[in-house]
Amino acid sequence: MAKIQKIKGVADLFPADSAKYAFMEKTARDVFSSYGFGELRTPILEKTELFCRSIGEETDVVQKEMYTFPDRKDRSLTMRPEATAGVVRAYVENKIYQPGKVSKFFTVGPMFRYERPQAGRMRQFHQINAEVFGASEPQADAEVLLMLSNFLSGIGLSKLSFELNSLGCPECRPVFRKALDDYFSGVDQEKLCDDCTRRVNTNPLRVLDCKSKGCKELTKDAPSIPEHLCGECREHFDAVVKLIDEAGLEYTLNPRLVRGLDYYQRTTFEVTSGDIGSQTAVAGGGRYDGLVHTLGGAKVPGIGFACGMERLGMLLDGDYEEKLDFYIALVDQRAAGDALIFAEKLRKSGLKGEVGFVAKSMKSQLRQANKLEVKKCFIFGTDEVENGTVTIKDMTEGGGQESLPRDEYFK
Ligand code: HAM
Repeated sequence: MAKIQKIKGVADLFPADSAKYAFMEKTARDVFSSYGFGELRTPILEKTELFCRSIGEETDVVQKEMYTFPDRKDRSLTMRPEATAGVVRAYVENKIYQPGKVSKFFTVGPMFRYERPQAGRMRQFHQINAEVFGASEPQADAEVLLMLSNFLSGIGLSKLSFELNSLGCPECRPVFRKALDDYFSGVDQEKLCDDCTRRVNTNPLRVLDCKSKGCKELTKDAPSIPEHLCGECREHFDAVVKLIDEAGLEYTLNPRLVRGLDYYQRTTFEVTSGDIGSQTAVAGGGRYDGLVHTLGGAKVPGIGFACGMERLGMLLDGDYEEKLDFYIALVDQRAAGDALIFAEKLRKSGLKGEVGFVAKSMKSQLRQANKLEVKKCFIFGTDEVENGTVTIKDMTEGGGQESLPRDEYFK
């Protein structure tokens, strides 16, 4: 019969890979909880409207990347392409907001985007996501950036580049948009890539951070967002920069950084790596002060970020699988009962290990023990059963072998 293969752009994570993911998740839990964040698990399936309204109708994600389908009652559902919209929906729906209250959540899990798969770009990928509600102060922006930096150095990545920008607010954005429209009407739009030919009318800010050569050239002299910030946005951004300067976080200002989701206002940021091919962004985020209101809640500010676990994983080359402590080589099936009981005792004492099967020769079981890099190998045959003993082979270099009464071993 023909084999069934997985669909394009998804991956099976075997133990070596999933150990890496577990390591990233554990580090995130440790670091984020030290800042007062609690875990929120939201559904993978949401109403399609949630993403259209929050991410923005004109974004690439909504236009062409969502896994959207009618359910059996013809309601349009979407598999979440990102976590923020669902977190905000849960925050609003569960009436978490109270005046003066700051809420902090993190989420971990799979996201789905119908993109063209390549290294670091998957159709099912995983994010570690953090969101803060109810804090409009620049201090929240700085703290979120510091937490992200601490998480990344916690997994051993301290040489990544932080890029920072401010996208302004509903007050100053229209002024900038007008300047940008004027600029684009005076250039040769033929040079724009296919995506930007559409974006230039619907979402012209996105043209500014398009990576294609023609678009880059065409926007060389385009007006810059930071130069069009209103007084309050300028003050906010300067205060964020001052705080992270004081905290010693290194970053570069990137006036072209726009981000692909429409809900951002003011501070936006991305963390990039030059070592993972063309998909350089390992994390991204920013402030979304209007989003809670857009999704039916009060006027509560928000800020957060998400890290892409596949891309971070490409930068982690260690061995994250837990090592076993012991291996039991079973040389006679009649010793299986004693071996299992002995193994249970070892496990109760806190050790990890496994029992071999007689179908494999003693030699190949010892080879397996070596491969597992266990420190101790116990041997169980008929002698051991008859005498109530255990044979212990020290697997460290130059280690010997001895036989002990089994009871003595645990004394
Ligand atoms: P985003 O920039 O769309 O932001 O995604 C965040 C990260 O997810 C990216 O930097 C990248 O590492 C990873 N990522 C995105 N798409 C893919 C893909 N197809 N394959 C592999 N990795 C991918 C957001 O999703 C926002 N919700 C972040 C946020 C949270 N902003 C505020 N709060």
